[in-house]
Amino acid sequence: MVIRNHYASLDPAQRGWMDDVPSYMPPIALGDAVRAASVGVVHASARPDFAVGDWVMGMNAIEDFSVAQPGSLPTKIDIARVPSPTNYLSAIGVTGLTAYFGLLNHGQPKAGETMLVSGAAGAVGSVVGQIGKIMGCRVVGIAGGGTKCDRLRREYGFDAAIDYRGKSADRLAAEIAGVVPEGADIVFENVGGTILDAELMNIAQNARIILCGLISEYNHPEPAGARNLRQIFIKSATLEGFLFVEHTSQFAEAAAEIGEWIADGKLRVDEDVQAGLENSYAAFMRLFSGENSGKLILKII
Ligand SMILES: NC(=O)c1ccc[n+]([C@@H]2O[C@H](COP(=O)([O-])OP(=O)(O)OC[C@H]3O[C@@H](n4cnc5c(N)ncnc54)[C@H](OP(=O)(O)O)[C@@H]3O)[C@@H](O)[C@H]2O)c1
Repeated sequence: MVIRNHYASLDPAQRGWMDDVPSYMPPIALGDAVRAASVGVVHASARPDFAVGDWVMGMNAIEDFSVAQPGSLPTKIDIARVPSPTNYLSAIGVTGLTAYFGLLNHGQPKAGETMLVSGAAGAVGSVVGQIGKIMGCRVVGIAGGGTKCDRLRREYGFDAAIDYRGKSADRLAAEIAGVVPEGADIVFENVGGTILDAELMNIAQNARIILCGLISEYNHPEPAGARNLRQIFIKSATLEGFLFVEHTSQFAEAAAEIGEWIADGKLRVDEDVQAGLENSYAAFMRLFSGENSGKLILKII
């Protein structure tokens, strides 16, 4: 089956595929196309269950056309259900599902608890914070710059936002303490580095730290954070990593609940759609400069 790709998901979690450090997928060989979740249309099919013109999503690559291999068939999608086919890469794709499973299955938030979210204005972080609010938590986001912090409060309903840019771990820790004097019950970590160091100085007794990603460390050979790990035993806290793909059996129910929250106006999911296969590298780098505003997606045609 040949799929004509329309959109690809540019995801910092793919970083592990761009070197040969052991990761959850085998490294990409030199000369291979860069893998990506993508959404497109069946262009040619020898299978009776896939017709030309069907919309599908799957793990293909950043390329015009993909050939579906046996064992990695795409999933048919119903684009009439959503405002845009790109929603299968954002709200009810990797972004929404990562936020949903990371917070609900691993963080297990309870009403009245305090949450700290790093990378809070990003694709995953902004959804995590909003789900935290739906669960009745007090949510504090950490993001880069005043504009993003304003958006956290005004557009995503966070209770408070802290700009980390230009601040040492000690200064950031003091600022967090001013906003979260009782300590955070949940830390949803997307960034690592000095931000994680500062958060660790502000955890409550029995805090749950959910390690979703470490984007500040992806382009640095030496990890720059986790210098305050002793706070984990001092506070009898837990630190737990996860991958959204562990929860495939719950994808349908999670997507349905996310869809309801969006329809009810409780959840806002933004997309940053960049165009042109030739712009894929520049688009990808927006994740590391912080220029992206919402889920970064590449429009291929
Ligand atoms: N565990 C899983 O299954 C899973 C699945 C998908 C994604 N992830 C992880 O989730 C995290 C967020 O991914 P996303 O797709 O939602 O990306 P995103 O947050 O939309 O974009 C990345 C953001 O990270 C921030 N950032 C980049 N470099 C930084 C640095 N050096 N220091 C501090 N902040 C930095 C920037 O925001 P600012 O402007 O605020 O700095 C940037 O906008 C990533 O760590 C990713 O690897 C995990």
